[in-house]
Order: sequence, then structure tokens, then C-alpha cells
Amino acid sequence: MTATKPLSPAGGVEVLDIDLSAPPTNAGDLVDLFAQHGLLLFRDQPMTKPVLLAASRIFGEPLVHLLGQNNDREVPEVAVVSTRGRDGDFEAKDPDELIGRIEWHTDQAYTPSPNRATMMWAVELPPEGGQTGFVDREKVYEALPASLRDRIEGLHVVQSWRKAQAEIAKNPNYATDEGAKMLQLDRFPDLSYELVQRHPVTGRKVLHAPPMWSSAIVELPGEEGAALLEEVMAFSLEPRFVYWHKYRPNDVVIWDNWRFMHAASGTKGRYNRLMYRTVLKGGPVMGIPLNPTEAEAAERRYRMATQSA
Ligand SMILES: [Fe+2]
Repeated sequence: MTATKPLSPAGGVEVLDIDLSAPPTNAGDLVDLFAQHGLLLFRDQPMTKPVLLAASRIFGEPLVHLLGQNNDREVPEVAVVSTRGRDGDFEAKDPDELIGRIEWHTDQAYTPSPNRATMMWAVELPPEGGQTGFVDREKVYEALPASLRDRIEGLHVVQSWRKAQAEIAKNPNYATDEGAKMLQLDRFPDLSYELVQRHPVTGRKVLHAPPMWSSAIVELPGEEGAALLEEVMAFSLEPRFVYWHKYRPNDVVIWDNWRFMHAASGTKGRYNRLMYRTVLKGGPVMGIPLNPTEAEAAERRYRMATQSA
């Protein structure tokens, strides 16, 4: 029996007495705990990138991230998440500026088959900020008032890469040709996701309306749909559902990306923050292109851009 303790009233557990630097004898228990809680914390895990990769394999198959710009050169399945960029060359213009602040989202909802899970290892931490927020969208669905559940039954939500990138583009740091290129506004076409999903592993219902990607209700394109979407997004961010994790060095966290959404508080530009991250392969198709022609055009554009790069 693997010992745990609750991480927060909003969910998650800390797994006790584990050393991830060697293959654990209770790997089956860890997989079960992950299916049950969807958010696990392991404290005091001095690691290396290969050990992070091995620990990730307990839960699934690590992927080389499709966006690629932060992938580590030696271990490409590991992404470098840093206030200094991958090569330590990033300079914040203002030491008080928040670097790496990210709106609530699930990873890869701009693709048809988002990753199963994400694992983070905290290496270097700032004295303030640098937290990851978590919301258990299964708990959110369970808590929805019956009237709101009825109103969203059978509806679909648009997941829009373009919406998210347009928000990021408001940051003056992206107001250059290079910045615009990084945002790749037309890289992914809009997708339609079920607003209430069945979790592929647990079969339990999960509300899918992450604010970063969600731009409209497919069946209600007008004001009524916009107001409904705002209502469910606001509900899902009520403080009772939110846990902000303040990392200690050598914390390792893994979350179920099909169940939790997350956000980054950001870190002041004056501080270093370094995390290493893996993502685990998904599988089930959750998103369907709203406009197949647009989807094909986006794919063609991307293929041409990568061939000429
Ligand atoms: Fe993320």
C-alpha cells in the first residue's frame, strides 16, 4: 500500500516514501493512484533528464513535443521551461515584468488527440511566483447546478489556437516580425470538442471549457452561446476548485491532462526559474476540425514551412 496525503481541498495527492531515481517496485500502485486522483506530487526527487524520462514511462509513453522550440537538445522528449529560454539567452526588458504567465488551459487542445499527461520537475525556483494552478474538471462537472448541466448537455466548444495566440500577441514583446513568427497564428485550425467529455480511462464526466482555448459554443454562435461559455468558465474557476502549487526544488508533479486544467502564475523577469517537462502520448480523438478545408490548408502550410526551414 503506497502512502499518500491530500495535496489540497481542490484535489491531488502527495505520494510519500518514493524514490523515482530507481524503478519503483510499486509502479502498479502509482498508476492506480494516478487514475484515481489525476494529480500526484513527489517531493525531494533529485533527478536527471534521463531519470525524468524513466519516471514518465511509469505512466505512459513520453512524446517529443510537436511545437519543438523548447525541446532539450540531448533528450528531445524533455522540454525546457525557463524564464531564460532554452539557451539562457532571454533577457526580460523589465525586471518586474511577469515572464511565463499562462492562462488556464489543457495541453494540446489545439490538436485532435491531446496528450494523456504532463510531468514537471522543478529545478530552479524564484523566491516568489512561479506557481502552477490546477483545477479538477471532473469535480467542476460534479458541482455544476442541475440547471446548468441541462443547458450544456450535448453542446460542443470551439478550441481555438488562434484565440490563444491573439491574446499572447497583445504582449509588446511579440510586436516584432520574429515575435509574430513565433506565434504561428494559423498553425492549427479551430476544433470542435464536446463540452462535457467522458474521460477515456475512468469513464467519468469532465467539463471541457479551458479559458485559453475556448472561443465559442458550436451550436450557439451568438450572444447566448458567448454568455453560456462565460458562465461555465467562471464557474470552473471558483476558488473552491483552484489549487496553486508552490514548488520546492526537486518537486515532481504529474497531472492527468484529460481531467485537470492548469495555469502558470508567471515569474518576475529578475528571477530564474527552470523546470523540465515531459508530455505523455494521448490517443482518443477528442477534437474534430470545424472546417476540414481550413484544416488541410493549415497542414499544407506547415509542411511547406518546415520543408523550407
Ligand atoms: Fe500547459
